[in-house]
Order: sequence, then structure tokens, then C-alpha cells
Amino acid sequence: MANLGSSSRDGFSSKFGVIAAAAGSAIGLGNIWRFPYVLGESGGGAFLLLYLFFIIAFGVPVMTSELLIGRKAQKNVFGAFKSLAPGKPWFLVGTMGVLAAFLILSFYSVVAGWTIEYVYLAVKGSLSGSPDEINMIFEEFKASQFWPYFWTIVFLILTALIIVGGVKNGIEKYTKILMPLLFILIIVLDVKALLLPGAGKGIEFLFKPDFSKINGEVILAAMGQAFFSLSIGMGVIATYGSYIPKSQNLGKTALSVSLTDTLIAVLAGVAIFPAVYAFGMAPEQGEGLVFKVLPNIFNQMTGGYVFSVMFFVLLTIAALTSSISLLEVIVAYLSEEYGMKRSYAIWATTLVVSVLAMLCVYSVKVFGSFDFISSNVLLPLGGVLIVLFVGYVMKKSEVRAELEAHGKKVVYFDIFYFIVRYIAPVAIMFVFLNGVGVINFG
Ligand code: PHE
Repeated sequence: MANLGSSSRDGFSSKFGVIAAAAGSAIGLGNIWRFPYVLGESGGGAFLLLYLFFIIAFGVPVMTSELLIGRKAQKNVFGAFKSLAPGKPWFLVGTMGVLAAFLILSFYSVVAGWTIEYVYLAVKGSLSGSPDEINMIFEEFKASQFWPYFWTIVFLILTALIIVGGVKNGIEKYTKILMPLLFILIIVLDVKALLLPGAGKGIEFLFKPDFSKINGEVILAAMGQAFFSLSIGMGVIATYGSYIPKSQNLGKTALSVSLTDTLIAVLAGVAIFPAVYAFGMAPEQGEGLVFKVLPNIFNQMTGGYVFSVMFFVLLTIAALTSSISLLEVIVAYLSEEYGMKRSYAIWATTLVVSVLAMLCVYSVKVFGSFDFISSNVLLPLGGVLIVLFVGYVMKKSEVRAELEAHGKKVVYFDIFYFIVRYIAPVAIMFVFLNGVGVINFG
């Protein structure tokens, strides 16, 4: 995303380019790695219901709000808040977003590093064996004192190189072809998984809610997952919004990006949980779940070798289209707020994030707390501030004008405005405070 925020503002060559980029940011390890493992640990179907609820009730309105802030201001997130509310501290939302970007990028690159290792193993043909052996492959890799560090750094360098290279030859070209391909592969995996003996149990786990599994923590985890997966609450989407032409319907854009993202997560779940049960595993495997389960499905497929290589390559690319959006937030901040040279900002950030990421490889505790603080704290709080900004700082007429800039009345305006002003801020705060145990409604 070179030139983001520069006066030429020529980051994307087409309308589809920027929407593909926003979808590229949203779709990533959050859908295929994080969603199934968090759902597996949070009791299954009830978590799914909550997750879907949060996507529709808060995810889409927050994403719409972010897009409209960015497009109205025609600036990245800091510039946007500064120009829409001059002299007020709203730009701190952007600062919080930068902090979140540092934390997310740090643990995200660790998991992306695992994915690269799996590309390597898939190419070598080593992802074979019994489910127990597959399990051991992951555990042994994680225990290695070298490879997890090495691949994490490789991933961070790849991310930096793409940002150095710029948007047009970076994201746009690849996202348009490769993301649909990833989608097709997941469907193939779904079909295979559904045909496994005992698949029904996994489908039941995923879709049949057991409400006794719900507590404040699970509700917060579902909300955090919704924010994380949609890349909202930290300014990434606002920045992309600044590149969307006025002729585009923002509400519709937010809805289609959100639904695509959600569909991919659910389809990933449909591939994984039947296999979990078919291979006699438990859904509460923690963050290794996908890596322990998927190779078993590939092993049962004709052409499994080719599929497994393709899958892990595409997953790495999906991770890259997300990580570049994270790195760009930090780089735009440093270069535009502090006048740092972009190339210097890119490599300095990569260096700092590398150190933080090493800590995440070294300690599960650091990994877990970076994840918790960003997904369950910073993104929801950022989301609250964003909707408050749209609901109370911007004029109602301005908000409406931006949402209707494509020239048609939007029928959902009143409900959107009501959610943004009254429901979302209160409900997100409530879920957050209840989840961290400040207030206690169970
Ligand atoms: N949404 C991305 C994913 O699901 C992760 C991400 C979060 C990217 C926040 C940018 C900002 O993989």
C-alpha cells in the first residue's frame, strides 16, 4: 500500500482493487486458524451463534462507520480523526490502533511462521502418518529452538518487502485470483470432511448450541473474534475506506466483506470439526488445532499431496494480505505523523515487531496476552470509540450524506444510526466489562 495518505492518493487502480484489499485484510489466519480453535475451546455451537450475532449487530455497523470516516476525510485513520475533529483527542483511536497493530502483528507472524513450516513439510511430503504422528509433527516443530523463530522472521521480512513494493503489484493482483482459489480449496476440504465416518458429531458440535457453555468469557471471546476477523476497531478499514470512490455504497461494501469473511470462517469450521471427531481428537486442542487436524484430511484424499501444498501456500498468502494491512497502519503513522521516511519506518517497525514476535515464540503467556489485549480489549474499545464518533461527533446529516453519496437513499439508515448511537457502544462496553469480570452477570 505504498502512497497511502500521500497527496497523489493513487494506492489502488480500481474500485474492485480496494474492496479486494479490504477483504484481503479481513480474510486470513483469523478465519482458518483462530476461529476454529477459539470455537473449539469455547464449547462449539453456542459460540458460533454469538459470533454470528456480533458480526451482524456490531461488526457490520462498526465496519460501515470506519469506512465512512475514512472516505469522508480522504485520509488514513489519524489524519481522518484530526481533520474531522480538529483539536480534539479523537486521533487517539488511531494511536490505540497502532498499539493493537504492533501486538497483533507480533503473534500473527508466529502463526504465519507455522504455516510456512507446513508449506515446507507439505512439499517434502512429510505431513503423513497416523493422527498421533501428525500431532507429534506439530509438537516437535513447536519445541524446536530454531525453526519457529526462523519462519516468523521470514514472514515478517516478506510482509515488509510487499509494503516496500507498493500496492498495485502487491495486493491487488494476487488477492483477486488467489482468494477465490483458497475458497474453492476449503469447499473441497468440506466435502471430504463431511464424508468421513463420524462426521455428524463434528457438525453437531459446530451447529448445535449448548447454552450451558456460555459465560461472560465466552461472550467476550466471540465478540473479540468478530472484531479480529473483520479487521475492525483499529483503523485498517478506515484507511481502506479513504480509497473507495463516492459512487460505491459503503453499507453494502461492509455487508459483503463481512459476509464473505464469515462464510470462510464457517466453512473452515465445517472442514475441521467433522475431522476432529472422525480422527478421535478433541476440539479443545488450543492454537495447534488446524495444524493437527487438516493434514489428516489431506492424507485421505486422492491428490492430497498437491492439495496440501496448495492449501498451505494459499493460507500463507492470505496471512500476508492481512499482515500488510497491519504493518501499513504503523508505517503510515510513523511516516505521516513523524515525517519518518517510509522505507526507514518499514524496516524499523519490522525490527521492533521481530523482537516482540520472538517473545511470542518463546512464551505462550506472552503470545496469549498479546492476543487477548488486542482482540478482546483494544479492538472492541476502538470499535466503541468509532461508533461514538459517528453517532455523536459527526453531524447526522453528514453521516447520511456519506452513506448516500452513491446517489441513492439507504433504507437502513435509521436502524444503522440507532445501533451506532445507542446499542453498539453500550452493548460492546457491557460485553467487555462482563467478560473481564469488572461487572458480573455470569
Ligand atoms: N482479520 C485478519 C484475519 O482474520 C487479522 C487482522 C486483524 C488484520 C486486525 C488486520 C487487523 O486474519
